[in-house]
Amino acid sequence: MKENHLTEDNCVPEVNPSIPSTIPKFVDELPIPKVLNPDKRGNNYAYYEIEMKCAGHKFHRDFCKTLVYGYNGIYPGPTIETMKDQAVYAKWINNLPLKHFLPVDKSLHGAIDNPEVRTVVHLHGANVAPESDGFPEAWFTRNYEFTGSSFSKEVYEYPNNQQATTLWYHDHSLGITRLNVYAGLAGFYIIHDFNELSLGLPKDEYDIPLIIQDKTFNSDGSLFYPSNTTPPNKYVNPSVVRAFIGATMVVNGKVWPYFKVEPRKYRFRILNASNTNGYVLKLSNGQSFYQIGTDGGLLGEPVKLESFPLDPAERIDVIIDFSKLKHGDTVILNTEETDFKVDVMQFKVELPLKYKDRSVIPKKLRPMEKLDKDMAKRIRRLTLSQSLDHYGRNMLMLNNKMFSDPATEMPEYDSIEIWEIANPLVNPPNVSHPIHLHLVQFQILNRQPFDVNTFNEKKFIEYGTGIDYTGAPVDPDPSERGWKDVVRVEPGKVTRIIAHFKNYTGDYIWHCHILEHEDHDMMRPLRVIKKYCD
Ligand code: C2O
Ligand code: CU
Ligand code: CU
Repeated sequence: MKENHLTEDNCVPEVNPSIPSTIPKFVDELPIPKVLNPDKRGNNYAYYEIEMKCAGHKFHRDFCKTLVYGYNGIYPGPTIETMKDQAVYAKWINNLPLKHFLPVDKSLHGAIDNPEVRTVVHLHGANVAPESDGFPEAWFTRNYEFTGSSFSKEVYEYPNNQQATTLWYHDHSLGITRLNVYAGLAGFYIIHDFNELSLGLPKDEYDIPLIIQDKTFNSDGSLFYPSNTTPPNKYVNPSVVRAFIGATMVVNGKVWPYFKVEPRKYRFRILNASNTNGYVLKLSNGQSFYQIGTDGGLLGEPVKLESFPLDPAERIDVIIDFSKLKHGDTVILNTEETDFKVDVMQFKVELPLKYKDRSVIPKKLRPMEKLDKDMAKRIRRLTLSQSLDHYGRNMLMLNNKMFSDPATEMPEYDSIEIWEIANPLVNPPNVSHPIHLHLVQFQILNRQPFDVNTFNEKKFIEYGTGIDYTGAPVDPDPSERGWKDVVRVEPGKVTRIIAHFKNYTGDYIWHCHILEHEDHDMMRPLRVIKKYCD
């Protein structure tokens, strides 16, 4: 991959980027992705042209520039901001090279016989028509020269007919999503509404998006991504891996940055855009967070949290109050894993208070409607499963089906459904799978433990009544009691969600948001169908 590595002339890295312990922490200031100006603005719409291209990106003061793929050549991509009900049109343009700089596994769905660098953009969490959703087979190559079977248009339309929230856009091409997102193709998309703006929350320079990704670097500073499993699969090389966990933490494009704050309240919209890793985040001084929102928008009321889990693709909206801290104090945002602790970034209370902090943590944020279980037209029972693929590799699936198998999850238009997702995969790695549905924001009903051994013996795939529960259903965490588009489906439990499939019919998908799983068939069609009669 050397030949693709962009180096500035004469740049020699000051540290060895492949050895994280040599990289000084908290020496780079946190960049804030800039808000993109539309190319055109009308009465109730904005139009953008966004070009995906290669760029040299400086991840750290002591690194040379690293080759990334960026929207408009920047990583993370520029932020798109809009008001609710103001339409956004985006022409996504691929000006990337034809050959990928990361190892492409040609055996995966979509990667066989297709050009290496394919792109398609998905606005994660948005309620949009299927042609603008970024279906994995709607990919296109440079200049739209080659297109996937579902490609239908160049300009996507986002009506933004949903409440204020933090969405994100990222690549979703079949079989290479993990590589394209890791290469840099991800950015924020923020919707505001009048309710949110009337609440007195910290805003503008006190409203900061944080995109967290873990990454590993080669010694020359280029991005490292594994090209094979250990031990290597002898039939497929490069081969997809089961998990990828980077050795450094990158926030808004910098390795272990710091952020200078005033002694006052700030709002942080935190997104975990890592390939595999979930985090449990906390503050090093034991201070609390005040959570105000989830994936799909504001909660009914704030929730005080000491720490919270954040799995891939999940967002959390929190307020941190630095007003009790003294000038010069520092606080580290870190993770709380059982066996190891990882620093993410640092806050330095170093700026003088510009003016009195008049922002508030309101008692009530918005009326939180609850989807009613009794309104559910159908309960769908689904199982996370695994098998071996054609090359003898372990392959994770949904309901024992591959992505290319015919659609089976076909909710009726405007119907409410309960999905009960069983995760019997308790053998190591014994992880939660962050399951994501396109099109909808859903609510988590509960999680209930079941007897995995009997479940496996009976070979339940679409399980029915025969499941042996070993405990009562447990309510979702306080941090999950809002609108969600990703849910942790924990091992040994059935996770129940409720969703209203409204506004559009057509072909969407649901999948695990661990990108290595998604690219290797832990993804299924989701088809919303029109009903002709009851
Ligand atoms: Cu964030 Cu189907 O994706
Ligand atoms: Cu999505
Ligand atoms: Cu998974």
